[in-house]
Formats: sequence, structure tokens, C-alpha cells
Amino acid sequence: MRFFGTMRDNNGVLSIGEVKVTELAKKYGTPLYIMDQELIEENMKKYKNSFKSKNFKTQIVYASKAFLSKAMCQLVEKYDIDIDAVSAGELYTIKASGIDMKKVHMHGNNKSIEELEMCVEYGIGSIIIDNELEIENLSKVCAKNNKKMKVMLRINIGIDAHTHEYIKTSKHSSKFGESIFDKRLVEMVKRIVEDKNMEFLGFHCHIGSQIFDTQAFHEGIKVMVVETKKMEEKLGIKIPEINLGGGFGVYYTAEDVEIDIESFMKSMIEVLEKNLHKYDLDVERVSIEPGRSIVGNAGSTLYTVGGIKQTYGGTKYIFIDGGMTDNIRPALYQAQYEATIANRLNEKDKEIVTVAGKCCESGDLIIKNKELPKGKVGDLLLVTTTGAYGYSMASNYNKLTRPAVVFVKNGKASLVIKRETFEDLIKNDLLIEL
Ligand code: LLP
Repeated sequence: MRFFGTMRDNNGVLSIGEVKVTELAKKYGTPLYIMDQELIEENMKKYKNSFKSKNFKTQIVYASKAFLSKAMCQLVEKYDIDIDAVSAGELYTIKASGIDMKKVHMHGNNKSIEELEMCVEYGIGSIIIDNELEIENLSKVCAKNNKKMKVMLRINIGIDAHTHEYIKTSKHSSKFGESIFDKRLVEMVKRIVEDKNMEFLGFHCHIGSQIFDTQAFHEGIKVMVVETKKMEEKLGIKIPEINLGGGFGVYYTAEDVEIDIESFMKSMIEVLEKNLHKYDLDVERVSIEPGRSIVGNAGSTLYTVGGIKQTYGGTKYIFIDGGMTDNIRPALYQAQYEATIANRLNEKDKEIVTVAGKCCESGDLIIKNKELPKGKVGDLLLVTTTGAYGYSMASNYNKLTRPAVVFVKNGKASLVIKRETFEDLIKNDLLIEL
């Protein structure tokens, strides 16, 4: 298993942020999401320092759907990063953290009127309009509240990047955005530009998630520059901004070719500068929206091994005290993970095992038929790279309580999300009169 950030072998016991996982398990219980705060901060700093140009301003927007908590918002604020939201719930959480709402940008293909009202009331930084109908909805909400909002329009640029079908977003039949081939696009932009309650910032795109094909992002830049230029010319307007979305892939297993944030960001800037020059386009600002690449490798999930089963059919299972409820990704996207026995790193014996969760679902498998150090009941099994889309996609299936989340740094652990209680599970559950 690969070590990330501050992971160290402490006489056979794994430590993260200088805290031993055995201590974390004792204090907070398992399953437990452990976030390496220093690695999150490192990643934020890398983005801030490498996505920079002399020719235009840059903006890093953290995609909060990857992992959102109030403490995460504090880090976002500390590094002067913006943040996005896609629902009223995410907006509410961000607002509750106390950060400046001007740093918030709202996404979503089906924003409700209530959500649009909330964006206006909170005075957020911008709204990324998804479709034609939403232009009308937002226009009405702004007019009713007598407020002017900054908006972008999400477009599909038709870049087919290699990733799982479920997380591809930029095909021309995608549910997100409007296609660049759609004849109505120019009318839509005109409609926005002419609305006194909207200020058009420019186009947004997001070609998908967990993409390693850096060429696809470079191609995307070119299309965005060309589309922006074309629209400026067609409407005789100045478009100040381009938003390139996120989706930069991270290492889960040795099959993944990693993207180095700093060199990749520098290449993005070069391609941007080159294309802006080539097509004679002058934008004030370019934004990106990384989510997974900020928190993915920084998060790990710690489980306790509760049982080991050698089946008649040959598969050997290691049973853990969580599973698809805290990590749906293997079941949903056939995602692959690495793991280790974190309390006995010096275990020399290896065996081929399947790590199975405790849900009533045969597909509740976190790792399938892979070589792991030999585990025994009571061991602590740690799965890496669960920082993105782990907690945020967690569920209460089989009435499992969602695990706690701790941030660790410099020998200190801070509980940032408490473990759910049984009481939490039934707090909205009412009896009927019989
Ligand atoms: N911007 C927009 C508009 C997005 O829709 C997303 C992700 C991002 C940025 C951030 O993408 P990232 O840098 O994190 O790849 N649940 C899936 C991923 C879904 C991504 C949805 N949108 C997974 O677990 O792989």
C-alpha cells in the first residue's frame, strides 16, 4: 500500500499526522474517516502557487461535493480558496461555517426556485446556470428580490475523456449544461446579457471526474477559448471569465497514472496563455474546480476486522465493521482501493483476500481478490484514498450509523464530524395512530 502525506511506519503501527491509528481507534472508534490535514493544506497551497498567470487572474474553487464539513470550509477560507455548492444543503452547511458567501458558487442541473432564492438571499459569488429554463427562473427570482447576480452558463464541449461512464459529463446528450452545437446557445447568452438583473461572467465546463488524460483538459481549454471568442464576436460583448471545472485524477491503485498537481497546473496555464494569444482573447480571470485532487489522498478509512471466512468456493473474506455505507464507490463504479493492516505494518505473510462490508448486499465489497498482509480478528484495516466522495456519499443502509471524521495534524486529532448515534437514526421517524 502506498503511503500519502504524513503517513509513517511507527514501529509497525501506522501514524497519520503524527497520531497512531491505534490511538485514533481507541478514542473515536471504528469505522473512522481520518483526514490528513497537512496534506489537504499542501494540496491547496500547490493549486494556489501553480495555477497562476501574469496575463489573467486565477481562481481555485474547491468542489465541496468531494467532502464538505464546517472545518473543511475553514481550511478553504484559510487558503483564500473559493468553494462551490450544488444544493441547498451544501449552501446551508457552507453558510453555517461562517465563511464569506461571496466565495461561494452554485451549480446544479435542477436548482429549485427555493435554492435560487437562497443564493440570492445569501448573496453568493456566482450562479452557474445549467439550462435555458433556469435563465428564466433566475431572472424572476432576481427581479422579485431586486438583486443582480453574477452568472456563468455551463456548456458541453464534447470532450470525451476516459473515465467511468457514470462520471462523464460533457457528452452532447449529458444532463449537464447546454451543447456548444445547440443553435439556441447564442440566444441564451443574449437573454442573460440583456437581463438587467444578471451579469454574464462567461462559460463553464466540466468534462468529467477522475480523468488522467491531461490532453483532454488541454483540448478543453482550446474549445472554451474558441467558444468564448465566437460569442464575443457574435454578440459584440466582452466576456471576462472562463471556468474549466475540475476532474483531475488521483492515485487509488498502481494502475492509476498520477497527475502531479504543480506540473499539470503549469501546463494548463501554458496552454491557456497560448490559446488566449492565438485566438486573440483577453479574459480577466480563469477558474478551476478541483475536488478529489484536494482531499482524495488525504483521507483514509480505518475499520476493525470482525471476522475472517474461508469459503468452500475458494474466496477468503476479511469482514470489516463498515462497507458500502461509508464507501459506495466500489459498488457504484467498480472503484479499486489499496489497504493494509495498520496496527501490524510489519506482518510479512500475505494472502489473497476480499474485504467485505457488513451490509446485506453481496456487492458490498471494498476490495476484491487482492493480496493483503495477513489479518486477524481485532486488527485495524486501513483503506487509503477515501477522502473524496466517501463521507459525502455515505448512507444509513441497514441503519448503520455514519462514521466520525477526524482531522489529524502535528500529533493532534480534531473531531470534525461526530459519529452518528442511534438517536440520530430515528430522529425523524414518527409512529402512527393505530
Ligand atoms: N465541478 C463540477 C461542476 C463537478 O460536477 C465536479 C464533480 C467537480 C467540479 C469536481 O470534480 P473532481 O475534481 O472532484 O473530480 N461521485 C463520483 C464523482 C462525481 C463527480 C461529480 N462532479 C466519484 O466518487 O468518483
